[in-house]
Amino acid sequence: MIAKQPLQLLQKALRGKYAIGAFNVNNLELLQGIVRGAEAQRAPVILQTSEGAIEYAGMAELVAMMSTAAQRATVPCVIHLDHGKDLDVVRAAIKQGYTSVMYDGSSLSYDENVRNTAKVVRWARAAGVMVEAELGAIAGTEDLVSVEAREATYTIPEQALDFVERTGCDSLAIAIGTAHGAHKAAVTNIVLDIPRLKRIHALVQKTPLVLHGASSVPDELVGETRMYCSMLGDCQRLDGAQGIPDTQVRQAIANGVCKVNTDTDLRIAFTAAVRETIVEQKDVFDPRKLLAPARDAIQRIVTQRIAVFGSKGKG
Ligand code: G3H
Ligand code: 13P
Ligand code: ZN
Repeated sequence: MIAKQPLQLLQKALRGKYAIGAFNVNNLELLQGIVRGAEAQRAPVILQTSEGAIEYAGMAELVAMMSTAAQRATVPCVIHLDHGKDLDVVRAAIKQGYTSVMYDGSSLSYDENVRNTAKVVRWARAAGVMVEAELGAIAGTEDLVSVEAREATYTIPEQALDFVERTGCDSLAIAIGTAHGAHKAAVTNIVLDIPRLKRIHALVQKTPLVLHGASSVPDELVGETRMYCSMLGDCQRLDGAQGIPDTQVRQAIANGVCKVNTDTDLRIAFTAAVRETIVEQKDVFDPRKLLAPARDAIQRIVTQRIAVFGSKGKG
């Protein structure tokens, strides 16, 4: 079913100290793998598309596909815009049928982020859509210059309170040491700033907090992908890959995080499965035979993530 009240789902998770998994959708097989994984675990799920996904597949097409899958699903499914940076895209998403949108003004000045987020909240309220905002900057692979440089972009707890009060956003993505992509720690092992998270949660107690860049980048999957990549002659990009350990994700969930985003783990699993089929089954040229194992791999990852998030049986 489509979750028409996504905020209530998050608030329930916040009270119950578990997190709802938010997984990135770019095509049909990803969507099916995610929904099947969530249904098998009886877990509510957030289906999210980035601006990049929209550019690739089309907003109307993605919404039609996700809404159909959600209506048929036996668990609540939120249809969410991930990292909406362009106000026109956010406004279009609200009109198109997303039940939740993220406005990401984290690269703007604080005042501009407040102004734009408040504007999005006004549009969204009128349509009954929930709004996630971002304060502090969640690093990307290319931003991992040093630990000090990263810490300078972490969410400031007192500013988080002011931000939530001034914008009226429903949930807040915070920067406490995670990063997008497969290389989350360029210079050292990852230690999330849990004391900072506790201070933020103590100040904005009722606001669901969101952890981006939380993929675990499992060694065995990276190994599999690299094995088949090296056969195909290109495996540089997964050198030194490192994710967020499950123990740290669980600590974050124990302290106010109730939505956790995963994209990179899905990408690695999907790619490993496709590469394996290409290499091991050289006679396959039916796209369905190429993509069905990848869809199964997505279901397995979603199952593992739901176990970490504690949302099994909550749908
Ligand atoms: O947070 C970013 C997600 O991994 C989406 O990535 O913009 O390449 O679709 P994308
Ligand atoms: P990962 O790159 O760690 O999967 O993070 C995804 C994300 O935050 C999407 O918004
Ligand atoms: Zn993100």
